[in-house]
Amino acid sequence: MEKKKIVIDYEQCALEDLTVDELRLIESAKMATRTSYAPYSHFAVGAAALLDNGETVTGSNQENVAFPSGLCAERTALFCCGAHFPDRAVVALGIAAHDGKDFTDRPITPCGACRQVMLETEERGQHEMTILLFGKQCVWRIAGVKSLLPFTFSSDFVPRKEE
Ligand code: THU
Repeated sequence: MEKKKIVIDYEQCALEDLTVDELRLIESAKMATRTSYAPYSHFAVGAAALLDNGETVTGSNQENVAFPSGLCAERTALFCCGAHFPDRAVVALGIAAHDGKDFTDRPITPCGACRQVMLETEERGQHEMTILLFGKQCVWRIAGVKSLLPFTFSSDFVPRKEE
């Protein structure tokens, strides 16, 4: 038996550590919380995806009385990218959340299903995605989805048939 360890790298940043583009993306994610439809959780999440052509696509969580029918902000934004810009890579994703009173102090981290979709978005675009998780106290910057989702189930396991 051999014990093994996975080490995950991320950066804890102050706003001054971020680039102008990163600050803009976080602002877009914060703005996107305003379009959240969250009458059940009252927790508004916003996501902003930066494409390789400089465009920004935003999304927010959309809930439903039949709970599993709702969707998180991250997947709303990324599926919107796929629907409107199928040939563009997503190069960065900003995420912010508002609890009804204010933006969260700590960064919020995406759920497992969103991480899985982020991974495939990265593979599809063949471009590593910088993830910016906003909190009022600090921003976590993560270089690539693999750091958020180790032991990934990726398309390597499911070879595609030649078309
Ligand atoms: N939610 C997101 O939109 N993104 C996350 O990363 C975590 C959770 C949403 C789902 C639900 O509408 C609300 O936040 C409370 O869980």
